[in-house]
Amino acid sequence: MNAVEIEQAITDLAAKPFDAAEFPFAFLEAFGNKETTLRKLRKGESNKSDFAGPWGGVLQANNIHVAVAPAGEVTSTLAALKASPATSRWKAKFILATDGATFEAENLTADGETVACSYAEFPDHFGFFLALAGITTVKQVRESSFDIRATSRLNRLYVELLKDNPDWGTAERRPDMNHFMARLIFCFFAEDTDIFNGTGLFTATVEQMSARDSSNTHEVIGGIFHAMNTPIADRPNAGLPRWADAFPYVNGGLFSGSTEAPRFSRIARSYLLHIGQLKWTQINPDIFGSMIQAVADDEERGALGMHYTSVPNILKVLNPLFLDDLRAKLEEAGDNSRTLLNLRRRMARIRVFDPACGSGNFLVIAYKEMRAIEAEINRRRHEPELRSEIPLTNFRGIEIRDFPAEIARLALIIAEYQCDVLYRGQKEALAEFLPLDAQNWITCGNALRLDWLSLWPQERAGVKLNADDLFSTPLDQAQIDFENEVGETYICGNPPYLGSRNQTDEHRSDLAPLMNGKITNWKSLDYVAGWIVKAAAYLRATAGASALVTTNSICQGLSVPTLWPHVLCDGMEIFFAHRSFKWTNLAAHNAGVTVAIIGLAMNDRRSTKYIVDGDERRAVPHINPYLIPAPTVFVEPRREPPGQYPMLFGNMPRDGSHLSMDWADRRSLLNRAPEAAPFVFRYLGSEELINGQQRYCVWVSDSQEAEARSIPELQVRFDGVAAARQKSPAAATRAWASRSHRFVQVPGLGRRSTLALAGVSSETREYLPVTLLGVGNVVSNLAFVLYDAPLWNMALIASRIHLVWIATVCGKLETRYRYSNTLGWNTFPVPPLTEKNKADLTRCAEHILLAREAHFPATIADLYDPDAMPADLRAAHDANDETLERIYIGRRFRNDTERLEKLFEMYTKMTANDGAGKRKAKVSA
Ligand SMILES: C[S@@+](CC[C@H](N)C(=O)[O-])C[C@H]1O[C@@H](n2cnc3c(N)ncnc32)[C@H](O)[C@@H]1O
Repeated sequence: MNAVEIEQAITDLAAKPFDAAEFPFAFLEAFGNKETTLRKLRKGESNKSDFAGPWGGVLQANNIHVAVAPAGEVTSTLAALKASPATSRWKAKFILATDGATFEAENLTADGETVACSYAEFPDHFGFFLALAGITTVKQVRESSFDIRATSRLNRLYVELLKDNPDWGTAERRPDMNHFMARLIFCFFAEDTDIFNGTGLFTATVEQMSARDSSNTHEVIGGIFHAMNTPIADRPNAGLPRWADAFPYVNGGLFSGSTEAPRFSRIARSYLLHIGQLKWTQINPDIFGSMIQAVADDEERGALGMHYTSVPNILKVLNPLFLDDLRAKLEEAGDNSRTLLNLRRRMARIRVFDPACGSGNFLVIAYKEMRAIEAEINRRRHEPELRSEIPLTNFRGIEIRDFPAEIARLALIIAEYQCDVLYRGQKEALAEFLPLDAQNWITCGNALRLDWLSLWPQERAGVKLNADDLFSTPLDQAQIDFENEVGETYICGNPPYLGSRNQTDEHRSDLAPLMNGKITNWKSLDYVAGWIVKAAAYLRATAGASALVTTNSICQGLSVPTLWPHVLCDGMEIFFAHRSFKWTNLAAHNAGVTVAIIGLAMNDRRSTKYIVDGDERRAVPHINPYLIPAPTVFVEPRREPPGQYPMLFGNMPRDGSHLSMDWADRRSLLNRAPEAAPFVFRYLGSEELINGQQRYCVWVSDSQEAEARSIPELQVRFDGVAAARQKSPAAATRAWASRSHRFVQVPGLGRRSTLALAGVSSETREYLPVTLLGVGNVVSNLAFVLYDAPLWNMALIASRIHLVWIATVCGKLETRYRYSNTLGWNTFPVPPLTEKNKADLTRCAEHILLAREAHFPATIADLYDPDAMPADLRAAHDANDETLERIYIGRRFRNDTERLEKLFEMYTKMTANDGAGKRKAKVSA
């Protein structure tokens, strides 16, 4: 069941007469429990409850312990459930008690969050219980039951209306449908907040004036909208029905244009009336916008809260961008009236711009935070009722989808009203609220195609805009301007991330004009790079700074030398960075992506720079594009390692799988042709190295070719290889058809030993799983190898510091570490090693090998499972890190940032003379 269905089910349950015996089962059913599960609970087979009340209790292991209480004994029943040994024994996450009049529950896992309400109101706490259906949410969503319920109901209405009006679901009419929904939301909010004359005016008018059979509902709503689009002065001649005349003039673009409404079925009409019953005063524009945008999305509808980005995460962007500075200035100003006034004036000219604004959550939070600062200024200046000088139109966004763009504007309007009520009082808020401001500050369009500078020119200019366009078509940007003296501009947001492989031709054509001729290999970059490039260009022309959430891949691997020389030039700097962290905004599938926040500004604008890493915030002199406090260098592939053993690719077969075989194949081959045995070797690629699978290959040197071909079983395989190579589209491979007895690329075989390392390794492992192999093993091109290298090389590769370097400079494949010899090994800075150092490191490597051996036959995957890594193996790695890190700096590094700082310092020195890494940024046009 999805969240919408659950909300419906518990709403229905609460509306039915209370049935004490049935309630626990009905409650569990509403959260998606299947009939078979309920049957077992009813029969007692799976009911673990030890509660001895009149109706007993129902305890579903690992989930909930529910009991119906005798009248008036809900609190004591809940206490009994909490104290019950079965509750803890069977790990109940929730306890719930009700007598049909009151309802109490506690979440035993989330800091003891509780709910206490009347029985009829328990569906209002719908978010509280979502975990029962396996839907994990952040606290703010759980606490915003209103927003979830409202969204859920709007969802149902939307679906129902599309059913009744299929034409409104077509691509051409979807914007009308979305626009209609935005108008409805406004009406629901307005009727509960006294913006309309009389509480519930909209819902009551629809209920009274439209027929019960719903036949004229659309006309009544259309009539109301018509009134809201008619200035009071024009009303006498507008022919409005008396009931519509009761509505104020709102327009503001929201009610301009066609006032047509879709047709309503009886069900749709009743949904609408139900939505009107909700208490819309409780709407939270930070959350609601994020949720409601899914309503218009066919794929995401039903998974409420999916797009919710928590306020703390948004503040991770906004605080360092400019809010911290404003608060510091407020602090400095104390009660100095003049300084406070200056600060207020400065704030009135600050523009906040989110060029991928979705439903406007960053803008709403920025607005609310600035209003809080302004209110404090006004309080200190003894002007608490002063009208806000912060124009809503300074909070601007671009959003490609029309519904979120509409919702963004609505969310800001609601935020403004709520701030006015909070800081100035209801009366003042109401007096100035209507009609809505007709200026557009959210542009529906493609941010990579729009010219931000002409969208937001720096010169002061007159307003030339046409309200009719505001909520429908994208504006001609040249027409948009504002009467607002220009101050600082802060670019913020969370633009879309799309790895190069997932980009469509359209995405690439968005990027092409920004990148062509400036950035070579730009097609390998993530889509988000377009926003970074545009933000940097914008900031070169304006006062301000930017802070964008991005996938951290653009600060890793080859993306760095590809993108950043073009961005960090002409004085552009990273003034703030929040290193990799999980952005858990997908509340429904709380998986989270790993992101970074990157702050950019021209170097004369930010004197202090700082890096945030986990909980630590550190002032630093410089931040490089790997987000390390070190000089800017670009790590690029090198042909040779600096003084280390060469690391090679394994051997590449291009054999159509005819030279390789599994264990059973090998046995059958050797049964039939025992003389083939000297030509069959153990064969290892990533899978075999990590998961211990057994594979073999035919390995024949040129001098042994005749002998091998004389064995018919081998000749058949060589014929297969030849045929496969002949079919290849690559001429180079076809040329190898005549030499079918061997692999096409043979960088080598270990004469004494081979250190082998899979090309890709899970990011959950704490170390790179390098393995020592004896003679008689062939490593495939899916792994890297050091042939006959001293064992202390293994200690280097198996160290934490090496993994950290690889993760940073080689980048990742999806989320896994991707190794590269030229980019990772050949660039890895190693201090000069004395013979003693080498002997110590050799011993460390031996200890790691012995610790692995002690757990035979555990595979590398088993041994390096982070939750099950054996203590002795972990200790061996720890000793290795200790030994190696002392060689680097005489002690252990405090954290990975410090490791990288040291490595970048060494890398800068190492490459100082050879030019690598010093590639100068090309100056952009
Ligand atoms: C990751 S969401 C962030 C939205 C919002 N700030 C949040 O946290 O939920 C990215 C937004 O960028 C929008 N978007 C994608 N491509 C765009 C483009 N080329 N121009 C403008 N907006 C775009 C998406 O529709 C989406 O709303």
